[in-house]
Amino acid sequence: MTSTADAQAARPVPGAPTTSARLLHVGDPALAHHLAVHGRLPEITGAQVITAVEQSGLTGRGGAAFPTGRKLATVARAAGRKGSVVVANGCEGEPASGKDRTLMLTSPHLVLDGIELAARAVGARQAYLCIHDDAHDVRSALTTALAERAGAENGSVPVTLKPTPHRYVASEETALIRALNGGLSLPAFTPPRPFERGVAGRPTLVDNVETLAHLALIARHGPTWFRSLGTTAAPGTTLVTLSGAVRSPGVYEIPLGLTGADLLALAGGPSEPVQAVLCGGYFGSWLPTDVFQRTEISAPGLAAAGSAIGAGIFIALPEGACALTETARITGYLAEQSAGQCGPCVHGLPALAQALRELATSGGTRSAHTLQTLMPFVERRGACRHPDGAARMIASALRVFPDEVRAHANRKLCPAATRPSTPRDPHHGRRYGS
Ligand SMILES: Cc1cc2nc3c(=O)[nH]c(=O)nc-3n(C[C@H](O)[C@H](O)[C@H](O)COP(=O)(O)O)c2cc1C
Ligand code: SF4
Repeated sequence: MTSTADAQAARPVPGAPTTSARLLHVGDPALAHHLAVHGRLPEITGAQVITAVEQSGLTGRGGAAFPTGRKLATVARAAGRKGSVVVANGCEGEPASGKDRTLMLTSPHLVLDGIELAARAVGARQAYLCIHDDAHDVRSALTTALAERAGAENGSVPVTLKPTPHRYVASEETALIRALNGGLSLPAFTPPRPFERGVAGRPTLVDNVETLAHLALIARHGPTWFRSLGTTAAPGTTLVTLSGAVRSPGVYEIPLGLTGADLLALAGGPSEPVQAVLCGGYFGSWLPTDVFQRTEISAPGLAAAGSAIGAGIFIALPEGACALTETARITGYLAEQSAGQCGPCVHGLPALAQALRELATSGGTRSAHTLQTLMPFVERRGACRHPDGAARMIASALRVFPDEVRAHANRKLCPAATRPSTPRDPHHGRRYGS
């Protein structure tokens, strides 16, 4: 099972810049450079920000692809005279993701501009930027950026950095709000939703830092410019993190609408034959390589293929790796990372992880049966979507790897063992099954 420290150390580095780079093409985090490239904050009202973002079709880059303009308008309406709060989510809890870290290290002022403009849009007088408490480099970059902006007419809304425990569920939006209200970093049952009652009881906008950086560019250049890349249904660019069996793993900025084959090519192509790709991260779904290659990389494109874009995470699984072992490892990680305050996380996820481990290592029909029986008791029963995400990932594994499930259940040779390759854990460099 991986540890958080392993996951942090394994985070990918920026890949080669792409021609479509909008967020990542600056490369120098200094304010002077940011102003030289992007110019000052635009003279634009909060209402104009909302209209531009609505027309741009921007959707959240934190995982759920929710329409950002609709969220801004909802918080702005709820704010009324009591005002609201903006929370920028820079925690990046997904172990295989490196995009938010890369963005905050290379373009911190774009994120801070986005916070300022979002605050203007929803009538916020206070903003928080949440990052993991062990992300020392990110904290240092943001502290420098905030100091550079002090008195430089780059914002009127105070932004407070909020270190957050490095746990998967601590960066879920209600957990962030609970912690900012002085409580534990644990998801809360909803309603009330953050837009109804969030930080200090005020309507609160929670947005991913990449979403806010896109917002900062939309406010400057307009919705037509944003839509000039991407597709009609999924406009703009997005940051993706590619890892596993690819030659150049890393963070890339791509126009939405490329194919999975384009993505593999961007990362230098497969480093060895790839049997499947986990799309969307640990809450995502496996796709067989041939399906992935022809799938459109966008929220609607991946949903149509039975997967998800999540936070833009793609992990290529080599042919020689046992898919059930990798699925068991990820499930074990998710079970370990739960807040352990609801039934599906206390009982369901550890039992699923155990059944998968048993199936992957000793095999037998009992563990396969346990998996099928337990799944319905996990989905849609927690305070947050953590167990649902885990169940979705496991269900996709059972769907995509039927030969492996059958072979392990019948204690036959795993198909992966018959394929010639050098099986390695895509994140941690350990041999599979060791
Ligand atoms: C268990 C769990 C963990 C999450 N972790 C993150 C995270 O690390 N970063 C993030 O931006 N969103 C995360 N989210 C999603 C947030 O709750 C929230 O929806 C998101 O920050 C909203 O931003 P967006 O609309 O810009 O995508 C997580 C959700 C869940 C259920
Ligand atoms: S579902 Fe799990 S992770 Fe979510 S709040 Fe409940 S115990 Fe915590």
